[in-house]
Amino acid sequence: MPPYESHELRRGKYAKLDAPGDDDVETPTRFSDDSNGTLEDLEEHDPLAFDSKLKRKKSAGDLKIRKASYRDTEPGGPLPVPRRKSRCALGRCCCWLLVFVAATVLIIASGGIWAYKISVPEDGLSPPWYPSPRGGTDKAWEESYKKAAELVKQMTLPEKVNITTGTGWSMDMCVGQTGRVARLKFPSLCLQDGPLGIRFADNITAFPAGITTGATWNKELMYLRGKAHGKEARLKGVNVLLGPAMGPLGRMPAGGRVWEGFGSDPVLQGIAAAQTIKGIQDEGVMATAKHYVGNEQEHFRQAWEWGLPNAISSNIDDRTLHEIYAWPFADSVKAGVTSVMCSYNQVNSSYACQNSKLLNGVLKDELGFQGFIQSDWLAQRSGVASALAGLDMTMPGDGLRWAKGNSLWGPELTRAVLNGSVPIDRVDDMVTRVVASWYQVGQDKWDDEGPNFSSWTNDRVGKLHEGSPSNHDTGVVNKYVNAQGEGKEAHGHLVRRVAAEGTVLVKNEGRLLPLDRKGWKTSNKAKRRTKYRVGVFGEDARLPHEGINHCPDQSCNEGTLASGWGSGAVNYSYLIEPLSAIREAFDNETVYVTDWVENKLPSQKEILEDQDLCIVFANADAGEGYESYQSIRGDRNDLNLQKGGEKLIRDVAKGCGEGMGDVVVVIHAVGPVILEKFIDMMNVKAVIIANLPGTESGNAIVDVLFGDANPSGRLPYTIAKNEDDYGPGSKIKYLPSPSDGLAPQQNFSEGLYIDYRHFDKQGIEPRFEFGYGLSYTQFALSDLLIEEKGAKTPLPKPRPAGLTPPSYTTELPDPKSVLFPEGFRKVERYIYPWLDSLKGVTIANPAPPPPQSPLSDAGGGPGGNPDLYTTLLSVSASLENTGPVDGSSVVQLYISFPQNYKDPETGESVDFPVRVLRGFEKVHVDTKGGKLVNFELTRRDLSYWDVARQNWVVPVGEIGIGVGFSSRDLPLMGKW
Ligand code: BGC
Repeated sequence: MPPYESHELRRGKYAKLDAPGDDDVETPTRFSDDSNGTLEDLEEHDPLAFDSKLKRKKSAGDLKIRKASYRDTEPGGPLPVPRRKSRCALGRCCCWLLVFVAATVLIIASGGIWAYKISVPEDGLSPPWYPSPRGGTDKAWEESYKKAAELVKQMTLPEKVNITTGTGWSMDMCVGQTGRVARLKFPSLCLQDGPLGIRFADNITAFPAGITTGATWNKELMYLRGKAHGKEARLKGVNVLLGPAMGPLGRMPAGGRVWEGFGSDPVLQGIAAAQTIKGIQDEGVMATAKHYVGNEQEHFRQAWEWGLPNAISSNIDDRTLHEIYAWPFADSVKAGVTSVMCSYNQVNSSYACQNSKLLNGVLKDELGFQGFIQSDWLAQRSGVASALAGLDMTMPGDGLRWAKGNSLWGPELTRAVLNGSVPIDRVDDMVTRVVASWYQVGQDKWDDEGPNFSSWTNDRVGKLHEGSPSNHDTGVVNKYVNAQGEGKEAHGHLVRRVAAEGTVLVKNEGRLLPLDRKGWKTSNKAKRRTKYRVGVFGEDARLPHEGINHCPDQSCNEGTLASGWGSGAVNYSYLIEPLSAIREAFDNETVYVTDWVENKLPSQKEILEDQDLCIVFANADAGEGYESYQSIRGDRNDLNLQKGGEKLIRDVAKGCGEGMGDVVVVIHAVGPVILEKFIDMMNVKAVIIANLPGTESGNAIVDVLFGDANPSGRLPYTIAKNEDDYGPGSKIKYLPSPSDGLAPQQNFSEGLYIDYRHFDKQGIEPRFEFGYGLSYTQFALSDLLIEEKGAKTPLPKPRPAGLTPPSYTTELPDPKSVLFPEGFRKVERYIYPWLDSLKGVTIANPAPPPPQSPLSDAGGGPGGNPDLYTTLLSVSASLENTGPVDGSSVVQLYISFPQNYKDPETGESVDFPVRVLRGFEKVHVDTKGGKLVNFELTRRDLSYWDVARQNWVVPVGEIGIGVGFSSRDLPLMGKW
């Protein structure tokens, strides 16, 4: 059976072994895979924990940290507190009743006793992969590893541990910070979100979101956005940026964080991620590919956040993992990413941050990842198991609960090394990976000034250890460094370009767009003598009344929507509203602009009836699961417009010029929305999907409306006619099912068939297909040329041997050396690597390592076997601009593997999607001009993942090649 195919739960029997905390170091190590939590974990649970994550920045006038509320984490809220009676006759009875109720709640919350009865294999459902591969095998990292080894050699055990463990939530300036090794000048690393800008910081840019960037299909812009983001991080003193995000990948259109990534296709995600990573790292900042892997929805993503002790298990089969969800991570590794963040959820019933198959096997062995794996914030659920499974850094250092200072590593990792639970060479590898990554991007050349902003206050002087209840040390924490650039260098120019190119025009009847700044486009003289009347409608056209940063992490949908919410959102330094930009764009000599920028229209009809043109704005928001807005708890509840958007559009269309006025609809959204209620209305002539534009929202939409930017955005997802058309696999699991057992289960049974692959397979007509988008000009393609560049052999060349990783002495240090230095002044709740005493520490050598798991034939280099990246085919085509204006087209290449295929060697039937994206190029062509477009297809592009052979295989038979303008408009077809 393919290793990822079963979906049952693992028995609770081994849970204790992998349970976090002291168990990790006291119990002899077993090299098993991980487990779900135990009932004992319930005691560890802190209902206040999650809430501290919601902390927002303090300033003089805003000194409140959101208070904890049990309702955030406990199912059904707090237990009622019984009124105290003096020893009444019923006292004992009441006590028993209470015990019974409490026990029932505990049992139900822990997944139900029936779950323990489920019979499952001993090693759970995710195969074990041990020992953890050591970094330092890749030529491109050779120098950095050499330097790192020199430094690590000189480190003591506590110094090493300090680098692997965060200092605790809000203990330093950034959302995550590692301990420093001052003696060797290795700094505390600042880790800060995130994918679209620098979170919790001033004077920074809110770039367009990932989904908007994906919609540009412009590789150069993807790179430049990453580079500008990296530059801002550098200026703020951020060592590790927590982005780009490529998971969620978009399996579920309503997924709360789909907007952080680049679109519902692995190739689009992979290319955009790689470009972003190169941009960030070219500025000397470490990038983080997140979230690895299967974190497709917010509901139940995290233990306890949804009232259940265990996170959801994304059950993904081996082929789907390789061809869809891990694909962009392979591209990220190939691009040289220095960090990968493992996700909150479980994968095949094993937490992603302690899943040895995913971390040791796929990421480190098969994909040859040389950097370090960091946990998502509190995604680490065990100490020893996660270390052995390949986790290298725990973030933010806190253990199972927020901000208590009880790390699963820190002193516990030190102890685990001494008592033989974690071999010291595993810790050496963790540290070497981090230090090598630091050298790899050249941070050894930085002055160790650390971050020059505080995540916790806007004041200049603030607490140095915000999270410590008893430490009141203060200092200058905000230096207000302007990272946005000025004048021509201001990053706003780039934001505007990305936002405009990431805007998708999906309907433009009668060429209503582009608009004329002077109003009338008609030659009718009578009309031209009157002023052209324009009405702008909808709350989404204006700024929020309460200010642009009034909701923590942008977790509300008020006013215009320029980003989703959560850790991936930032405070705007400024935000250009569409209404003002539109007003300014029109010539007020000839055009009269009125507005009603609310979603409820006034009873007086004149505001609509008088208009020649109505521009109506509506939106749909979502975000990260720790925050909610109205009834939206992270994931959207449906794919409709929110806040009455559809009704607004319909009413505007009906009333505009008494039903005869032209209507332009502009939608800001976190993902696909259903357009059916208005798309076919006669006077709805233009519809624009403007995604999430970031800080230059208004200017970008004006550029598109008036044709200063010829629309060249293409849909990074399918827009369906009906929500159900996305298929059963696209549905968010909002409630656990009775059959779930210990944790909510989510079976990715649709396999490869997400988004357009599902529509194509099932023959469902979408409203607008993946890759679709209009322009103000027209393009034509011709002259398809397919040239073979490499032999069509099924398998790649044998895996090459890598370099030998550094090694160190495995002698255990003198136990006394791990005690707190004498006279050390501790900051309460700060996480240190030292121990208070050696009480209970039994010095022991580690158990002999388990037999080496077989190395993957698909491995041997960054992103996998280097031969997978050999070009086998070169494809070219001629593109002509046959329309009236200059413009850019996105030429897309899809391949079709043979249908009804039987592998000649194994005899197995292999099912293939109708077509899959394998390349794209955005090409600018002047009107009446032409250009040649080239694609290089690698062996990996032309292969599928063969579960039996555990390798990428080029199928025998013809592979179809389609080149065109969308997944359903492929005028050039050829074969290989
Ligand atoms: C998110 C991560 C983020 C981290 C730090 C987590 O809740 O899932 O994406 O990087 O917080 O803010």
